[in-house]
Amino acid sequence: MTKLKLLYVDDEKVNLTNFTIAFRTKYQIYTANSGQKALEIVKNNNDIAIIITDQRMPGMTGVELLQHIKKYNKDAIRIILTAYTEVADIIDSINKGHIYQYIVKPWVENDLLQVLDKASENFLLVRENKRLVQELEEDISERKRMENELRGLYKELQRLSVRLIEAQENERKRISMELHDDIGQNLIALKLQFNNFCFQLESSDKDKRQEAATIINSTLQRTLESTRTICQNLWPVIIEKFGFDLALKEFLDNFSRDYGIDVVLGSIHIQEYFSKHDQHQLYRILQEIVNNIGKHSGTEKIHFDTVNRADSLCIEITDFGCGFDMPDLAESQQEKGCLGLTTIRERVTILGGTIDIQSWREKGTRFTLLLPHSGALSTLP
Ligand SMILES: Nc1ncnc2c1ncn2[C@@H]1O[C@H](COP(=O)(O)OP(=O)(O)OP(=O)(O)O)[C@@H](O)[C@H]1O
Ligand SMILES: [Mg+2]
Repeated sequence: MTKLKLLYVDDEKVNLTNFTIAFRTKYQIYTANSGQKALEIVKNNNDIAIIITDQRMPGMTGVELLQHIKKYNKDAIRIILTAYTEVADIIDSINKGHIYQYIVKPWVENDLLQVLDKASENFLLVRENKRLVQELEEDISERKRMENELRGLYKELQRLSVRLIEAQENERKRISMELHDDIGQNLIALKLQFNNFCFQLESSDKDKRQEAATIINSTLQRTLESTRTICQNLWPVIIEKFGFDLALKEFLDNFSRDYGIDVVLGSIHIQEYFSKHDQHQLYRILQEIVNNIGKHSGTEKIHFDTVNRADSLCIEITDFGCGFDMPDLAESQQEKGCLGLTTIRERVTILGGTIDIQSWREKGTRFTLLLPHSGALSTLP
């Protein structure tokens, strides 16, 4: 066990030597022959456990010294050595809490040993008590921090569920509008065109019959394309049919055509590294990032790069448009109820990956996705 530190202060050198010889086996002893020197030792050693000082010393009395010491070390057990004549002063000091105990000179080794044993016990008890209280306080503050964090997460969850329900409602509205405005209108037109065609069947004008049939054909074609687009947005069936890599290429081609944005694309080898479930998540992530670029960036060109590492895939999508400020975004997202970036982050977490978004005003934005492989090939050595 490590020895406790003990400081003994006395202006008579012989007393310092005697004390050291008597107690050095039990304590790590520091000595000082004046109050000033004792103060310096205390300032440099904040873990001194017991301080014993002679009362009558030139320059500073023992009581004065112990009063000073209390400012630097509150925990040390402070003991004074005194002659009977000075006892009244010392009792006053004990009552004021500056001193733990007084010992009448000349001290007897065995008596002093008992006092020191008690003082050590006291010091260790107080120290252990303090440690426990501190541990308890740390536990309480950690629990409070966790409670606050949980409360915050719960609120965030509630906010997200509300927004998810709203988003689902909006999606339903959007689909219903597309069905009504696009397919519905086409079907009405088809009905009229079909009536016209039937009417033209009666007539002898072959050109008019031909023209009516061509009009029907082109409306049917448009309706087919609209149906495909709506289905594609609802569930990318093309992934199931032709595989993820082709589906992504098709999506980027359509995007490039619809927005007039040039997509610079390297070769894509993604599907064999991800499970079907993860391919769908990834498809949605890329759809949102790319559609955001089309909607918000005003860029003329996108770089779409993929690199397969040993056990992960890195995708970097860069545009050269208006960019945005991330801190401003958090607020405006809440206000406008935007969901895109939030769901991107959630899907990336589901895939066990990371996303880094860097954006520079008027220069562009770069999305870097790092996703661990999860498909059949990822299990190969
Ligand atoms: N590539 C980009 N260039 C410039 N601004 C962007 C880009 N991507 C996202 N933003 C900004 O980030 C905001 C949040 O995007 P987010 O996808 O969350 O919402 P949204 O697209 O506005 O709405 P939605 O919920 O329909 O996706 C956008 O409103 C836009 O201001
Ligand atoms: Mg969006």
